[in-house]
Amino acid sequence: MTSSDQPIGVFDSGVGGVSVLREIRRELPAEDLVYVADSEYAPYGDRAAAFIIERSITMVQFLEHHGAKAVVVACNTATGIAVDTLRARFPMPIVAIEPAVKPAVSQTRSGVIGVLATTQTISSPRFSRLVDAHAAGVRVVAQASPGLVEQVEAGDLASATTRSLVEQYVRPLLDQGADTIVLGCTHYPFLTAVIEDVVGPDVTVIDPAVAVARELRRRLQANGLLASGTHAGKEWFWTTGQPEQAQMVIRQLWGKTVEVRRVVPS
Ligand code: DGL
Repeated sequence: MTSSDQPIGVFDSGVGGVSVLREIRRELPAEDLVYVADSEYAPYGDRAAAFIIERSITMVQFLEHHGAKAVVVACNTATGIAVDTLRARFPMPIVAIEPAVKPAVSQTRSGVIGVLATTQTISSPRFSRLVDAHAAGVRVVAQASPGLVEQVEAGDLASATTRSLVEQYVRPLLDQGADTIVLGCTHYPFLTAVIEDVVGPDVTVIDPAVAVARELRRRLQANGLLASGTHAGKEWFWTTGQPEQAQMVIRQLWGKTVEVRRVVPS
């Protein structure tokens, strides 16, 4: 029997999903949270689909083993490629992030929205379906952005190299008239300061993490799994990569130092 006292499990290919974890913590202060970063294998975005599915299954198995009552796929790439497999295979509620095309379509005034995401997210049939379902009458310019995930994993959030990569990917969107840009990869909110500086004040940047946290609350409520107490929930951080490295980057978004433990490969 699953109990509401069990933690929520959250995973990403790396530290990017902490941008989602942050919103989950704001929305659900009493929940215990287990986060696992698959940094040893990041980035997922340019890997074969079979590899992304295999790693996503391994991550959910890890979270299940740590008692997760629900899982959040805090990785657009894993959602695009693996979420159907995960939902078919695991019994717990699985909430998944995906690029916020629908809110962007309702906000644009120019009729052009830009999506920054990984190569695999953009080429996934799921992304095509998302655009077909929600973007009638609006032009969607999808920009694959290889290299940005690596910059974030390295903790290099504001160097000249990072800025020039951001410019390289964002300029074509602005040149084509986008007034709304979707952050379609959970690593990119780490770069919000640079992105907003490049796009200027007239362009809206959308991060779907808040919507994911609300959807998670709804799903937990519907399943009778919301934590009952009023105590502050705890967090546990794990990585398949180097804990010191993850710790250094996570601190920049989480706002305080956290202990990160290494997942021992089975
Ligand atoms: N944070 C992941 C996403 O949202 C990055 C994927 C990758 O590792 O390339 O897509």
